[in-house]
Amino acid sequence: MRTPTDLMADIGEVLLDEDRIQARIRELGAQISADYAGRRITLVSVLKGSLPFMADLMRSITLPLRIDLMEVSSYGGATTESSGLVRILKDLSTSIEGEEVLICEDIIDTGLTLNYLIRYLKGKRPTSLRICTLLDKPARRLVEIPVDYTGFTIPDQFVVGYGLDYDELYRNLRFVGVLKPEVYAAPE
Ligand code: IMP
Repeated sequence: MRTPTDLMADIGEVLLDEDRIQARIRELGAQISADYAGRRITLVSVLKGSLPFMADLMRSITLPLRIDLMEVSSYGGATTESSGLVRILKDLSTSIEGEEVLICEDIIDTGLTLNYLIRYLKGKRPTSLRICTLLDKPARRLVEIPVDYTGFTIPDQFVVGYGLDYDELYRNLRFVGVLKPEVYAAPE
């Protein structure tokens, strides 16, 4: 496995800098707080990529809220393609029956992961189920997903940072950047 010595050297272009991300999350938080005024919500984050997004979004929402975490895997390790196979690695730890649930996703690409998750979570009978994604790559969609809140629509490029990884690395970057293609084309 290749471990980069300089994370920045692998970034071709900064797509969204920290200020833009934070400003948009404050807008999303205000919108969600207004839309659900008088109600309490449960944010369900999908680990690991959505962790920074959820941490920032929840602090931009002024409503009473609960959080819960799921972990699913759809991409097997060092690949940039969705396999379409979704495995639940970690399930919810609380009941969402009768709750207003908002899924917090890092990125919607083919939509296969969320399509599975929506069906799974609906089976747990929440009062409502909506979707908030930081990033949307509509060009690659294979299944239609009803997205309620979108941070940014981005072009069809493989991005890392602000939670998003390639082979589990780059999640700690404070911005979203395009990974140089030679990084994932690099021989082992
Ligand atoms: P989907 O099932 O194809 O919509 O893929 C969703 C998941 O794939 C996301 O939650 C990410 O974990 C991962 N993913 C999709 N596109 C990217 C990307 O550009 N960079 C990093 N991870 C991605």
